[in-house]
Amino acid sequence: MEAPKEIFLKDYKMPDYYFDTVDLKFSLGEEKTIVSSKITVVPRVEGSSSPLVLNGSDLKLVSIKVNNKELKEEDYKVDARHLTLSSPPSGTFTLEIVTEIYPQKNTSLEGLYKSSGNFCTQCEAEGFRKITFYQDRPDIMAKYTCYIEADKSLYPVLLSNGNLINHGELEGGKHYALWEDPFKKPCYLFALVAGQLESRDDTFKTCSGRQVALRIWTPAQDLPKTAHAMYSLKAAMKWDEDVFGLEYDLDLFNIVAVPDFNMGAMENKSLNLFNSKLVLASPETASDGDYAAILGVIGHEYFHNWTGNRVTCRDWFQLSLKEGLTVFRDQEFSSDMGSRTVKRIADVSKLRNYQFPQDSGPMAHPVRPHSYIKMDNFYTGKLLFSISWNGAEVVRMYKTLLGSQGFRKGMDLYFKRHDGQAVTCEDFFAAMRDANDADFANFLLWYSQAGTPLVKVTSSYNAEAHTYSLKFSQEVPPTPGQPAKEPMFIPVAVGLLDSSGKDMALSTVHNDGKLLSLASNNQPVYSTVLRVTKKEEEFVFSDILEKPIPSLLRGYSAPIRLQSDLSESDLFFLLAHDSDEFNRWEAGQLLARNLMLGLVSDFQQNTPLVLNPKFVHGLRSILCDSSLDKEFIAKAITMPGEGEIMDMMKVADPDAVHAVRIFIRKQLALELKAELLSTVEKNRSSEEYVYDHPNMARRALKNISLVYLASLEDPEIIELVLQEYKTATNMTDQFAALAAIAQKPGKARDDALDDFYSKWQHDFLVVNKWFALQAMSDIPSNVENVKKLLNHPAFDLRNPNKVYSLIGGFCGSPVNFHAKDGSGYKFLGEIVVQLDKLNPQVASRMVSAFSRWKRYDETRQNLAKAQLEMIMSTNGLSENVFEIASKSLA
Ligand code: PHE
Ligand code: ZN
Repeated sequence: MEAPKEIFLKDYKMPDYYFDTVDLKFSLGEEKTIVSSKITVVPRVEGSSSPLVLNGSDLKLVSIKVNNKELKEEDYKVDARHLTLSSPPSGTFTLEIVTEIYPQKNTSLEGLYKSSGNFCTQCEAEGFRKITFYQDRPDIMAKYTCYIEADKSLYPVLLSNGNLINHGELEGGKHYALWEDPFKKPCYLFALVAGQLESRDDTFKTCSGRQVALRIWTPAQDLPKTAHAMYSLKAAMKWDEDVFGLEYDLDLFNIVAVPDFNMGAMENKSLNLFNSKLVLASPETASDGDYAAILGVIGHEYFHNWTGNRVTCRDWFQLSLKEGLTVFRDQEFSSDMGSRTVKRIADVSKLRNYQFPQDSGPMAHPVRPHSYIKMDNFYTGKLLFSISWNGAEVVRMYKTLLGSQGFRKGMDLYFKRHDGQAVTCEDFFAAMRDANDADFANFLLWYSQAGTPLVKVTSSYNAEAHTYSLKFSQEVPPTPGQPAKEPMFIPVAVGLLDSSGKDMALSTVHNDGKLLSLASNNQPVYSTVLRVTKKEEEFVFSDILEKPIPSLLRGYSAPIRLQSDLSESDLFFLLAHDSDEFNRWEAGQLLARNLMLGLVSDFQQNTPLVLNPKFVHGLRSILCDSSLDKEFIAKAITMPGEGEIMDMMKVADPDAVHAVRIFIRKQLALELKAELLSTVEKNRSSEEYVYDHPNMARRALKNISLVYLASLEDPEIIELVLQEYKTATNMTDQFAALAAIAQKPGKARDDALDDFYSKWQHDFLVVNKWFALQAMSDIPSNVENVKKLLNHPAFDLRNPNKVYSLIGGFCGSPVNFHAKDGSGYKFLGEIVVQLDKLNPQVASRMVSAFSRWKRYDETRQNLAKAQLEMIMSTNGLSENVFEIASKSLA
């Protein structure tokens, strides 16, 4: 095949033509769907006669008219990707195009497709070109109307963006609806839904007193499961008003749950489409984790209405402009709705387990990438993390530097300047800077340099001068295409603890010959943000009366790796005393990381493993500290992920890391058995399920204790866990107990898994949990079980959720995916080839599990490489998979 072309940020060109209005007409049918579009085309430069190039993919062109006149064949050209009008009229003109499409055959789930009998669309990033010929780029913003006609009994509900302005009956059992969206939008925000759906209805009164109708659409039987989604939506609408002064701008807001969906959800203007698993929840079928995810994602999509839709991206390289900012906003929303510290811990863990490893691999990308082959790959698996998650960290740093009020001023200016426009990351930066007259030095490098900065800190105390110095040095590792890096602007939040564990008052600090006063309104501060901008830099605090213990990078104020000279006893001290709860957790994680790395090397040298008693003691104090938040305790006694530990090794050794993690779990369970048992006892509740922070925290602590306990081969405990499983009244408790039982192969495991399936086989979302639990299992040779499950009647390779549960879940189990005999790699290689024919986006998400193959030993490297080469040699490979596989091999 012809090697796919790479597209570069630096080659951006303004469009030659803008589209002013777009009137779409869909005639939805069983054989085919006819799409007519009527576009007002306006040349950007008056009198220009450059060709008009439209994107199109898998379309059958039926007719094309310019200013009401059918075009002759010599006036245009169609190929597999474009429709080109060689010499359009000068001045504004109307373009009418009719195409035929086949949604029933569309398994890519991009463009218009069918899911469970209903029509729906997915247009971000480049799906609109599968619906009609168009300039499929986000800087083309137009006003849309959408007329839909379809069989009334099969498709009683017809939805699109904006307001319903007309609807009625047609001959032959058909009906129609006409929608009008008053806001200009890029085509990636277009949406259409037609099918048999019912809605949960509610209203929201905005801050200016307007009533907004809210509707969440699902098949009738699922309606009872939409209460939490509706609650989340209303909470998000209120929060955006309170925190950012942002009000919803239409009278109707629709959400539709779709069972076959590649991603989590999509922020189409006033018609958000959601993967069913992020809408549907009931206490019996969804876990606390699901409830939290629904809250976060409903918030996320709603927040896009301003950050993404009203102000959109100039081009797809700017994806972080909307995703980084909106992820940041949803993180803040979830923090305000629950526990800020726990949310931060969860987000930072995710960053460490997924983003950092990839940041040092062949797929390393800056927050704003410089090039791509297939745009969708920005969203597939790991790349999304650079753009969205690391992007959110960048937005968070603005807030850390400017404070809440300064950040809000920046946001206000951003909307004032850019409402209705398609803009760039620099525009956001400029708004933050200008609204605050801020000096942001080289902050923009966060968008263009890939790789996680490594920052080293050394400290020294001068007892005579009463000064305390922190010396920083920073280095950004080389990444593909970026061998040499500049120093970054890194905000480091610090506090200094005295010997009783209290924060010291900070009054002044010297940096680079400058004396900075830290006091605000003459009051000393107890935490401050140091602006580290050079390769090497020193900060000296004065009036420090005793040798402090530093609490560094509080709240994880920058997405970096920090290496400090803190001793083990300093870390235990911070674990016990730091007023910054995040850093208390962090101290525990640092201890655990060092401990694990030490044990890994013992394991590799066949030295017997011994658990440091101080570590057990530290965790015991946390576990028994009733003044701490319970969810915080649950996080604090959870060991770092295997990915995170492997990431810190020269040659990643999944077997050793796994063995050590299991060893620690079991050892802790032995030593803390009494405390864990009493934690389980004290945190049971027979009351009805309530989704709020105290109850979630209680369940989290009880359930992690149960997992620890279940690692003991103790018949009494097995009995206890079985009892928990049988008496559970909600999915959180039931599933946690099932997972605890399923750790060990044997009859108890088999019976429990069978029982769970027979209970829940009618509920596809719960069945996916059942797939995932088995897929992720570390029981030996689990690949065989997973292969069997591929043939299970409930499995279907065409449904992304099932693929993510079973195949994605399997790749998430280091011991089995990286099995030394290559069985895991072979399994994935074969599946990717099959999947690519059905759904390239999902296939490329899966193939990215190979991208870090060079991190492993030679045997594994050769086995993984062979699979990547096998994939590359497949005929008709998609651009999606081609890009990930070829970059992984490079
Ligand atoms: N923009 C979507 C969101 O923010 C993510 C997405 C991207 C969904 C591409 C579908 C396709 O949730
Ligand atoms: Zn988003």
